[in-house]
Amino acid sequence: MNPRALPWYDYSGRFSPLKALVLLALLVPGLWIAVSYDLGLLGARPVTEAIHEFGDWTIRLVFIALAISPARIVLQWPQLLQLRRLVGVAAFAYVLVHFSLYVVDEAFAIPTVISEIVLRIYLTIGFTALLGLGVLAITSTDGWQRRLGARRWQKLHRVVYGIALLAVIHFFLQSKLNEWEPTVMAGIYLWLMGCRAIVRRYGRGKMPLPAMASLSLAAGALTAIGEALYFWIAMGAPFGLVLMANFSLETGLRPGWVVLASTGALTLLGALRGLIKPPSKARLRPA
Ligand code: HEM
Repeated sequence: MNPRALPWYDYSGRFSPLKALVLLALLVPGLWIAVSYDLGLLGARPVTEAIHEFGDWTIRLVFIALAISPARIVLQWPQLLQLRRLVGVAAFAYVLVHFSLYVVDEAFAIPTVISEIVLRIYLTIGFTALLGLGVLAITSTDGWQRRLGARRWQKLHRVVYGIALLAVIHFFLQSKLNEWEPTVMAGIYLWLMGCRAIVRRYGRGKMPLPAMASLSLAAGALTAIGEALYFWIAMGAPFGLVLMANFSLETGLRPGWVVLASTGALTLLGALRGLIKPPSKARLRPA
């Protein structure tokens, strides 16, 4: 067997401690959910809770996979790129469990599962995203990269941005009242799209820190505005009042701040990295 195919080997076929560590880290949430289920820690409806937990981790992993490209540029850490496939395939594994648990919850009534997927728009969207992730996981191998050619392969794998958007919509539609986390994910999605725009504007491998800082500010502000718009349209809550809630902790930390802090952290790390290591002249591989 080609050692490069094993998830703990790098492109040159050598054992990669970084990849092995990340592989172990990717297993932790799934194992933790399984152990919690076994110990009865998942509440009155453990299967439903497990569906939610696996869904949460699927969308997080899709977003982490997407953040790897900007992170390796900002942190000047080219080795990060080899983790993208690993994280992407893990996202697919998590969504497979998420879906399988849904089938278990429906008592294996396959005709019901099919009709629900066709009739309930949030399930139709989730299933489309699952199929998309499946195609990307299957074609993520070196063999498929060769078969399709670099350009076509990259074009195909850009579909992941559409999949991430479907995942955010699925998340929003299924969450009945608590829109906090879907709003955070929507804000981070905006930031990820902004990262692509920065690369397009400044050229491959270039993400100036001032542009990245401005992007985090814009993503945080747009998230706050989006949240206020949502509460206004869906619940008739005064737009200004919801917006002002961002400046008090009475209703907890609002999503806009979480988006600003989590995406801004990468820029901050990039600035610290720049202090330690001057910008590399070596060309980074294209994203
Ligand atoms: C890439 C694809 C998918 C992603 C990223 C995803 C993600 C999520 C997320 C984040 C949640 C909410 C968890 C929470 O509230 O804490 C969720 C809930 C759910 N998802 Fe998915 N999902 C996907 C595909 C699917 C598919 C294919 C199905 C089934 C056909 C499905 C069925 C469900 C169900 C039943 C819930 C719970 C809804 C409820 O309790 O009312 N998802 N999903």
